[in-house]
Amino acid sequence: MSRLVAQFLVLRSAYSNMANLKKFVIANKPDGEAKPTDFKLVEEPIPQVKDKEVLFEAVAFSVDPYMRPLMNFFEVGTTMFGEQVAKVIESKHPDFKVGDLAVGYLGWQTHYVGNPDEVTSPFGGLKKPYVLPDLLGLSPTLALGILGTPGNTAYFGLTKLCELKPGKTLVVSGAAGAIGSHVGQIGKIFGCKVIGFAGSDEKVSYLTKECKFDHAFNYKKITVKEALKS
Ligand SMILES: NC(=O)c1ccc[n+]([C@@H]2O[C@H](COP(=O)([O-])OP(=O)(O)OC[C@H]3O[C@@H](n4cnc5c(N)ncnc54)[C@H](OP(=O)(O)O)[C@@H]3O)[C@@H](O)[C@H]2O)c1
Repeated sequence: MSRLVAQFLVLRSAYSNMANLKKFVIANKPDGEAKPTDFKLVEEPIPQVKDKEVLFEAVAFSVDPYMRPLMNFFEVGTTMFGEQVAKVIESKHPDFKVGDLAVGYLGWQTHYVGNPDEVTSPFGGLKKPYVLPDLLGLSPTLALGILGTPGNTAYFGLTKLCELKPGKTLVVSGAAGAIGSHVGQIGKIFGCKVIGFAGSDEKVSYLTKECKFDHAFNYKKITVKEALKS
């Protein structure tokens, strides 16, 4: 599942009944790849906001590769976990005011009511949503992409683990994916020669034309060894 491709906006027009929320719950623990039938769409009333609680309304949520293996650790009937950008609609919590945009693990649902101090991460432990700073007109969905987990994974993986140095050659596999495409672009900013490998000619073209990789190859047409020699 590509995070960027699979990330979808939750359209306001879908909220036909503001008294209800819609959410996806886990209907089955997937066997192999996750299928639509592994999820069930449920509609239920939006709970009243109590002291210290906030009503968040989804602006966007993401679909990420980590979700598939993690689903096996959650009970059937659990609201599908995941990060959201959400708007604060009502607040009885001092850290969140009406109109704020926040980022947190609020799950695959149109609305979330609860105490933000008690929001949990699917990886374990508490993970309080944070209020998104002013992005000066940029899309808040970037908080789920380059300014969020994929961007951090690419940036810190590359700069802290790979000891990136200007002038070096950086080879990226899975290059057209969420992480790989960011890795290559960060590598270019750091002055590296960037070579990407992806599984289709369309992706190869995207890598060189849009992501400005120096070279890209379709690994289904040429082996990595042959490509790097050429
Ligand atoms: N997204 C995150 O925030 C995040 C955070 C931490 C770690 N990760 C890890 O980083 C990796 C990449 O994640 P991503 O978000 O970039 O995923 P992605 O957007 O789905 O891209 C992954 C790419 O891997 C290639 N691929 C798929 N199946 C493959 C296979 N069987 N063999 C070889 N290549 C295959 C596909 O490209 P081709 O069709 O071109 O082969 C796909 O575009 C994953 O292992 C993920 O768990 C992701």
